[in-house]
Amino acid sequence: MFTLKRTHTCGALRASDAGQTVNLNGWVEAVRDQGSVAFLVLRDRYGQTQVVFRKDFDEALLKRAQSLRAEFVVAVRGVVKARAAEAMRKEQPTGEIEVEAKQLEILNEAAVPPFEVSEHVQVSDETRLKYRYLDLRRKPMQRNMITRHKVLAAFRESMDRQGFLDLDTPVLIKNTPGGARNFLVPSRLWEGQFFALAESPQIFKQLFQVAGMDRYFQVCKCFRDEDLRADRQPEFTQFDLEMSFVDESDVQAAVEDAVANVFKKVLGVELKRPFPKMTYAEAMDKYGSDKPDIRFGLHLVDVSELARTSSFRVFSEAVAGGGIVKGLCVPGGGGMSRKEIDDLTTLVKGVGAKGLVWLKGEGGTLGGSSAKNFKPEELAAIREKMGAKDGDILFFVADEKGRCKVALGGLRTHLGAKLKLIKEGTWEPFWVVEFPMFEEGPEGKPQAKHHVFTSPKPEDLDLLEKEPLKVRARAYDLVLNGVELGGGSIRIHRKDVQRRVLAVIGLDESNIREKFGFMLDAFDYGAPPHGGIALGVDRFVMLLLGLDTIRDVIPYPKTQKGQCLMQNAPSGVIQRQLDELHIRLKQPPQETKM
Ligand code: AMO
Repeated sequence: MFTLKRTHTCGALRASDAGQTVNLNGWVEAVRDQGSVAFLVLRDRYGQTQVVFRKDFDEALLKRAQSLRAEFVVAVRGVVKARAAEAMRKEQPTGEIEVEAKQLEILNEAAVPPFEVSEHVQVSDETRLKYRYLDLRRKPMQRNMITRHKVLAAFRESMDRQGFLDLDTPVLIKNTPGGARNFLVPSRLWEGQFFALAESPQIFKQLFQVAGMDRYFQVCKCFRDEDLRADRQPEFTQFDLEMSFVDESDVQAAVEDAVANVFKKVLGVELKRPFPKMTYAEAMDKYGSDKPDIRFGLHLVDVSELARTSSFRVFSEAVAGGGIVKGLCVPGGGGMSRKEIDDLTTLVKGVGAKGLVWLKGEGGTLGGSSAKNFKPEELAAIREKMGAKDGDILFFVADEKGRCKVALGGLRTHLGAKLKLIKEGTWEPFWVVEFPMFEEGPEGKPQAKHHVFTSPKPEDLDLLEKEPLKVRARAYDLVLNGVELGGGSIRIHRKDVQRRVLAVIGLDESNIREKFGFMLDAFDYGAPPHGGIALGVDRFVMLLLGLDTIRDVIPYPKTQKGQCLMQNAPSGVIQRQLDELHIRLKQPPQETKM
């Protein structure tokens, strides 16, 4: 029986409550046993309260309190007492009081936990994930979950205020090509056929526009069978929205309202609006990234013109071969050791660059082991172009255009963190716009950079078949502190343009009909111009909390290898289930008892 139902939470009591008889429920954080008196720290989501058991008051009760261990679940009845001045713990909200126990009910005992449920844990991520319910009981994780809730609430509040309808869409959908690799779900009723788990509500939210819903939003789960990283999970959450009769600025304004509301409600920060914009071309030229962290400088500088005629063959040959040479100048970086420079060289080689050339500003010119390859006037020209001073270090990559920018962009990001150039606690959301419509796919074929429903810029439509890689899209990404927070676009709403785009990615007429016929048919019945976006909820919460992995803000995430260690999933199934699904495995099934 549970009789001592709580009258207050463990975070509620203050000095003004002194004299009241209260009931508290919670988990045992700690018991400090001093013989004739024991102090119990009781914890719940709302805080901690100290409860005192005294021998001279009730010896039997004290004995029971002394038998408590960490994580037991208990109920206590007692009287709130103001603490003596020297026992006050001003840093804790309940630190002015303690509760003198009169009754104790042990609601549940607890086994010794595999790690201490405390602020800092010294165990592996695997152990934390296996016992996620204990990990989530820790204060920092509770803070993360509460923040997650607040972010979602602020987003929903803005959407509701702006007239968006919260509508859900199916998770079991048709497997369509393009985009991320899908998780497949075999059909029992339709032998040999499969559903895919939705990688996003994209098609359905567009069809909501054809259906006249005008403004749709959803906080939804998306499923992608991709290789995982710190900011990628196979199952993640999006804020998803779509609007009719709009252009880019309308979608961006709606999102900015929601993002600003989140910042205001969660951090008390007022963001400046509208958010600035930068073209994809500028982001790549200046930062070597389509999601640059603009909280620090270190801009990439193009020195291809100087390199073209340079006596240094690494430079001149790269340009002659159609490549470019770009560099970045690290102010005051001249003191970098050879080892540090070698590590940076390994880093750029890791992203495909052939090498890293470095020069140091010294004696009014440039020095370093590569300096001998240049004429003095060439060194002077490079120094001027790069804006270098004595004491600086300059890095250059000479390579094919894309590789050069990406390699230097990676170096820039690395140096930003290593040299602590980033102003922490600053928020600079901005839009990257005018993305290319296509990029080169694995077999050299164009593939959609955002997705196939994204509208090309009307002025580039003529290039669609002739030079698809030159077509710009009406796509936009929201970038915050070096992270791609969201991406969206104005969509194609005309059947003829949609057909042409699907043909560019290599689908023939029968494929188009089979995979996207339902969508093209819908466009026959009056599709309004429309556009939308989706933001990654997990990434957003991670950024707001200053964390560097989304695993800490997802209640039950998967491991880096895509497993749930708590449930031990994925796991085998029994033969009967496979038979029902018409599946024969290459290996006999690893049977799991059902
Ligand atoms: P996109 O694929 O760019 O667009 O996804 C939108 C945002 O979702 C987040 N995200 C992820 N977060 C965690 N783990 C992942 N594996 C993962 N993949 C993506 C990112 C990303 O910016 N339907 C379109 C949106 C649209 O066009 O409206 C879409 O899903 O923060």
